[in-house]
Amino acid sequence: MEENQVYAMPRIGDKAPEFKAVTTQGEINFPADYKGSWVILFSHPADFTPVCTSEFMTFASMEKQFNEANCKLVGLSVDGLYSHIAWLRTIKEKIEYKGMKNVEVTFPLIEDITMDVAKKYGMMMPGESNTKAVRAVFVIDPNGIIRTIIYYPLSLGRNFDELYRVVVALQTADEFKVATPADWRPGDDVIVPTAGSCGVAKERMETKDETVKCHDWFFCTKKLDKDTVLKKVLKK
Ligand code: BEZ
Repeated sequence: MEENQVYAMPRIGDKAPEFKAVTTQGEINFPADYKGSWVILFSHPADFTPVCTSEFMTFASMEKQFNEANCKLVGLSVDGLYSHIAWLRTIKEKIEYKGMKNVEVTFPLIEDITMDVAKKYGMMMPGESNTKAVRAVFVIDPNGIIRTIIYYPLSLGRNFDELYRVVVALQTADEFKVATPADWRPGDDVIVPTAGSCGVAKERMETKDETVKCHDWFFCTKKLDKDTVLKKVLKK
């Protein structure tokens, strides 16, 4: 690989690049196999490394929670299948960490020794490493559109509560045609209407809807109770 070579990076709003790959759960055809579901495609630098191990244990422990939000998980590193299998077996059989033990990773982990997928998704960042993918996260919607991209360097483990918050917030924005403010969590007020619709500012300021509060002409929020969000997003 040429030093500091730059790869095209998919962007938010793009169709998720297509690929077929071998995984720990068999072959996948991405994103076609995931049509109708949200999916988090994420890369990690290497098997048998400590930060990645802590991440996999955490993500696997939260898989049911993500699945309940109609979101599937797919991991990737530029290691081979037998390395993946051996690492995941070690995690299950030997690693106890922060109260997690016997953790079985049942979501697919892609082998990408050719780096084809990692390059397609802009997961290789030569300034950080020529041989390992960075910690990239792609949140892809049920129509195969990339909706959020987050990158972390090799040394920094991800916050999986934040990734879950992103999935629920994106679905809430879609379902209720709202935007979500800083640090939003289900039950917090949401922003109406979504950014870019300034033409309705006057009507918003004069709204009779008592659940809407306008802080100024460009900034109106309304209540959206937690149960309504959870019923729609988590079908609870
Ligand atoms: C880790 O997961 O611990 C790790 C991986 C690659 C470089 C540095 C740390």
